[in-house]
Amino acid sequence: MTLSVAVAGASGYAGGELLRILAGHPDFEVRTVTAHQNAGHPLIAHQPHLRSLAHLTLQETTPQTLAGHDVVFLALPHGTSGAIAAELPEDTVVVDCGADHRLEDPADWAAFYGGEYHGAWAYGVPELPLAAHETGAETGAAAGAETGAAAASDAGPTPASAGTGKQRDRLRGARRIAAPGCNSSSVSLALAPGIRAGLIDDEDIVAVLAVGPSGAGKSLKTMYLASEILGSANPYAVGGTHRHIPEIQQNLRKAGAVSPTLSFTPVLVPMSRGILATSTARVKPGVTAEQVQAAWEDAYAGEPFVQVLPAGTVPRTADVLGANTVLIGVALDAAAGRVVTVLAMDNLYKGTAGAAIQSVNIALGLDETAGLTVNGVAP
Ligand SMILES: NC(=O)c1ccc[n+]([C@@H]2O[C@H](COP(=O)([O-])OP(=O)(O)OC[C@H]3O[C@@H](n4cnc5c(N)ncnc54)[C@H](OP(=O)(O)O)[C@@H]3O)[C@@H](O)[C@H]2O)c1
Repeated sequence: MTLSVAVAGASGYAGGELLRILAGHPDFEVRTVTAHQNAGHPLIAHQPHLRSLAHLTLQETTPQTLAGHDVVFLALPHGTSGAIAAELPEDTVVVDCGADHRLEDPADWAAFYGGEYHGAWAYGVPELPLAAHETGAETGAAAGAETGAAAASDAGPTPASAGTGKQRDRLRGARRIAAPGCNSSSVSLALAPGIRAGLIDDEDIVAVLAVGPSGAGKSLKTMYLASEILGSANPYAVGGTHRHIPEIQQNLRKAGAVSPTLSFTPVLVPMSRGILATSTARVKPGVTAEQVQAAWEDAYAGEPFVQVLPAGTVPRTADVLGANTVLIGVALDAAAGRVVTVLAMDNLYKGTAGAAIQSVNIALGLDETAGLTVNGVAP
């Protein structure tokens, strides 16, 4: 059976990547695309690479145009999706690619975003390793008994503890899904294995990310002009102000961190897409390089889209462009007493649209990998 899909924010970067993947998905048909100031235009005028969807016209983004579909993807600026989502039917699968439903603590929302808080939904990073206290493996309690409570009440059924020990278990049957921040999932996936395995401390985490400007969307801002970016590396949101910090801390707490502190510095570099995240943390005394490599490999064993590279190798962004793939290299810097992880991810594919569609596949009981590719575009 083909499921009908609407994409809001279809003229933007995240919307465009959703549509590109959905166009090749065996179970979905894109029926409706919406935008804001560009409503009324042909989709192809804003997404000229999406030839198979040339028949679609951008409509107004309203609950009425989005209602009546099996799945609705919201790829809107943060602060705009909460009110729209609240008016969509409960049995519709709604995925928010913005930040409105990621944070479980209203205080984090108030501190980093502001405005009305709309609650947390099931978080769309299926591979995120969860600590025993999160899955109920320690106590026998149902999954989501602690911080997942808000997500459980808003997001539909939350499966019980007989699961994989990953965030994936919380996506099965979900009707409301919060796709991750791209930087957030990169740092979280890079360090969660070491935290869950108890090999690293959580109070001295440092992450520096090289990021492409597509992560900031299509709207015009001087700092993202080619003349500003080409030939330069440009740090921004320096000094603990980036909005993805509380989301990463939330994820690391789910992996077992107690009070994670994070120094987080993104650097804009001249590549359209991609994230190269170098995330480091102090290693516990006596931990060996072999233990580190084994813990990371164990955390992602069998995962179709998250792969740990052999010891001594690190990924490049070029290896994951256009793919739902995360590549992680991990090393023990014994002299510095730190684990160093290098993670490559395409911010628009696995960082947003691919994570969203993978999560919907899980929520609906489809093949988790349906419509998604593991192979990148090279050179
Ligand atoms: N870019 C990424 O790598 C990435 C990664 C993870 C998450 N996200 C999240 O995904 C969301 C979309 O990001 P993006 O990069 O695709 O941004 P974008 O390229 O600027 O696109 C924004 C889209 O939202 C529409 N829009 C703007 N203001 C609106 C309003 N008030 N009401 C309804 N629609 C409105 C725009 O329509 P018009 O063109 O008609 O103005 C456009 O279709 C954001 O919340 C972002 O944080 C993005």
